[in-house]
Amino acid sequence: MLTETHAPPPGANADWTVDQDWAHYTAEEHGVWDTLFARQAKLLPGRASDAYLRGLDVLKLSKPGIPDFAELSERLMALTGWQVVAVPGLVPDDVFFDHMANRRFVAGNFIRRSDQLDYLEEPDVFHDVFGHVPMLADPVFADYLEAYGRGGQRALGLDALKYLGRLYWYTVEFGLIAEPQGLRIYGAGIVSSFSESRFALDDPSPNRIAFDLARVMRTEYRIDDFQQNYFVIPSFDALLKATVETDFAPLYDVLKAQDDIAVAAIVEGDAVLTRGTQDYARGKAA
Ligand code: PHE
Ligand code: FE
Repeated sequence: MLTETHAPPPGANADWTVDQDWAHYTAEEHGVWDTLFARQAKLLPGRASDAYLRGLDVLKLSKPGIPDFAELSERLMALTGWQVVAVPGLVPDDVFFDHMANRRFVAGNFIRRSDQLDYLEEPDVFHDVFGHVPMLADPVFADYLEAYGRGGQRALGLDALKYLGRLYWYTVEFGLIAEPQGLRIYGAGIVSSFSESRFALDDPSPNRIAFDLARVMRTEYRIDDFQQNYFVIPSFDALLKATVETDFAPLYDVLKAQDDIAVAAIVEGDAVLTRGTQDYARGKAA
């Protein structure tokens, strides 16, 4: 979502999509999906949100091999009107937002190597499809992402991508939800990660703070390691309402006049669910 250049790579369409060409995947590549799938599927019951687990089920993602986007899109279209389209890698922000505003989720069509199961330089098909697509089967979350795409187009014109990007990070990628049985993960960055899907819920190190829109948008994040704070929504309805019913333009102006909040900081007004020890981050720094 962060590249600057504008011409699509050779072979890609003007909107940066490519044919997934499902037949080109090797047996080894399908095997990588199956290995990753088996590992996460075992871990996620009792950890992932109900909506996520339902999506995994209704979209039949347990079927062996890398999913065929055409088949997946057909199921998804019937449920929430979303489609999954293949791209060769990261796409420019405006392209990303345009697809999203039109209920097209862009997914990398390549898969990580079998000797690098936990290593990702850019989002691959496992992160994009296993991580993100189940949530798109949830009608409320599906509406949220479409609204986010339109919000992105607007933020580009308001020079406010920094703030809107943090909302994506702390919800779509690394969000937690409070469910009746306890905290659950729904962010794609967590559900698709073997280590973070445990860390985010079980580790005493990170802060877990109740979601507050302006607070989240002020908060810096790190892309190269586990998060040191997670934000917890009470429900997807509440997330949708808080974002759709707020006009972000005046909020961006307020935020531009304020300081950012550092990773791991707790500030006045935070409703802290668990105050982290930060031991993990300290251990790294030592
Ligand atoms: N309400 C936001 C705006 O005024 C748009 C938006 C909706 C952004 C939902 C993100 C999620 O820009
Ligand atoms: Fe992602």
